[in-house]
Amino acid sequence: MNILILGSGGREHTLAWKIAQSKKLTKLFVAPGNAGTNELAENVEIAVNDFEAIKALVLKEEINLVLVGPEDPLVNGIHDFFLNDAQLKEVAVIGPEKLAATIEGSKEFAKEFMLRHNIPTAAYQSFTSINLEEGYSFLESLKPPYVLKADGLAAGKGVLILNDLKEAKSELKSMLLDAKFGNASATVVIEEFLDGIELSCFVLTDGKNYKILPMAKDYKRIGEGDTGLNTGGMGAISPVPFADETFIQKIEERIVIPTVEGLQKDQYPYKGFIFIGLIKVGNDPKVIEYNVRMGDPETEVVIPRIKNDFVEVLEATANQKLDTIALQIDERTAVTLMAVSGGYPEAYEKGKEINGLEKGNESLVFHAGTKSHNGKVQTNGGRVLAVTSYGEDFKDALQTSYKNIKEIDFEGMYYRKDIGFDL
Ligand code: AMP
Ligand code: GLY
Repeated sequence: MNILILGSGGREHTLAWKIAQSKKLTKLFVAPGNAGTNELAENVEIAVNDFEAIKALVLKEEINLVLVGPEDPLVNGIHDFFLNDAQLKEVAVIGPEKLAATIEGSKEFAKEFMLRHNIPTAAYQSFTSINLEEGYSFLESLKPPYVLKADGLAAGKGVLILNDLKEAKSELKSMLLDAKFGNASATVVIEEFLDGIELSCFVLTDGKNYKILPMAKDYKRIGEGDTGLNTGGMGAISPVPFADETFIQKIEERIVIPTVEGLQKDQYPYKGFIFIGLIKVGNDPKVIEYNVRMGDPETEVVIPRIKNDFVEVLEATANQKLDTIALQIDERTAVTLMAVSGGYPEAYEKGKEINGLEKGNESLVFHAGTKSHNGKVQTNGGRVLAVTSYGEDFKDALQTSYKNIKEIDFEGMYYRKDIGFDL
C-alpha cells in the first residue's frame, strides 16, 4: 500500500524508518519531511494544515493510509475532512477525529473527561475573565507551587508553575485579560501541584481495542540536572526503570482502560495514538495531560523497540482489528540524545552544515530539524538530530549514543551530557 506521513520532525523520521521496513509498503511519502525522511521516502513540500493540497496528493498518488504525526492537523479536523469527502472517505487516517482530539486541544475538556471517568489527575478549577476574582480566591486556597495552564494549544509554552502567590495572581490576570497566550489563555485551568517523577505512556487504539506501547521517559529541560527552560525534549529512555510490572498494571487498570472506554462511551471517535503524560506520586500514577499523537523524542526510543511489521499494526488500527495483533517488544533498552542548535529553545540560527553523518554509526541517527541543500545536510530547526542506541540497560545504551554523537558536528551544536541522571 501507499502511505503518507504528515510532519517533519524526529518522530516522523522514526515512523518513516519503521514503515519503510514493512513488506506491505509500496511507496512512502512524507509531507513536508526533512533530510532524513528524504533518504527513505519521497518528501512532498506540503504543509500539514493544507488539507486541500494533501487531498490532491492523496488522489494523485493513490495513497491508502495517512499517518498524522503532529497534533495540529488533528485538532483542526483532518480526519473529519477525509471522512466528509466522497473521494477520500475510504482512505485510512491514523489520528483521532476533531472532537476526540479536543482531549489535547483543550485542557478543560480533558479535565472534565477525566473527572467523568474517574481517571486520577490533579484537582483543578477553570476560570475565564468573567470570574477572575474567583480565580484569585482559588489560588489563595492552594499551597504553592501554583500551576496555571492555558486551556488551548500554546506550542508547549502554556503552563506556568509559580512559587509566589502574588506572581501567580498577576500571571493569571495577564493570561485572562491580556491574552498572554493569545486565545489559548481565554480560559485558564488552575491545578493542584503534583510532586513526583514523570513518564510517558503511549497507547494505540482503534476505538474499541488498545495496545500499550513501551513506556518512556523524556528530559524536557535544556540544562543539565533538569534546569533552565522547557524544550520539546532533549533525550528519552525506554523502558522506564521505575515503572515495574505492578506500576504498569496500575496505569492500565486506572488510566488506560477508563480512557479507552470513556472515549467510546462519550462517542469521541479515536483511531490513533494516545500519549498519556503521567506523574508517579508515591506509588500511584496520575495523569498530567493527554496528547493525541506520539511524543518526540519518545518515538525515537519507543518505535525502535517494536518488532512487528508496523504497517500491519496501522492497518489493524484502521480496521478496528487491533485485537488480532500481538505486539512483540525488543527486551533491550533504547535511549536517544537530542542534538540541538545553539541558543535553543530561545533564538537560534539555521542553515549550519552538519558533518559526520556519512560515517557508519552504530547508533540510529534520526533527523529532526534538518534539510537537504545542494547535496549537503543543514540544520533547519531547534532540535536537529536524535541519536538512538540499544543496550542491555540504559547506561549501556547511553554509552553508545554518547560515543556516536561525538562523530557528528555542526556550529553551535549542544546536547545534554546527563540523560538518565535521575534514574
Ligand atoms: P503539560 O503541558 O500539561 O504537560 O504541562 C507541562 C509540564 O508542567 C509537565 O510536563 C509537568 O512537568 C508540569 N506540570 C503540569 N501540571 C502539573 C501539576 N499539576 N503538578 C506538577 N507539575 C505539573
Ligand atoms: N516529549 C514531549 C512531547 O512530545 O510533547
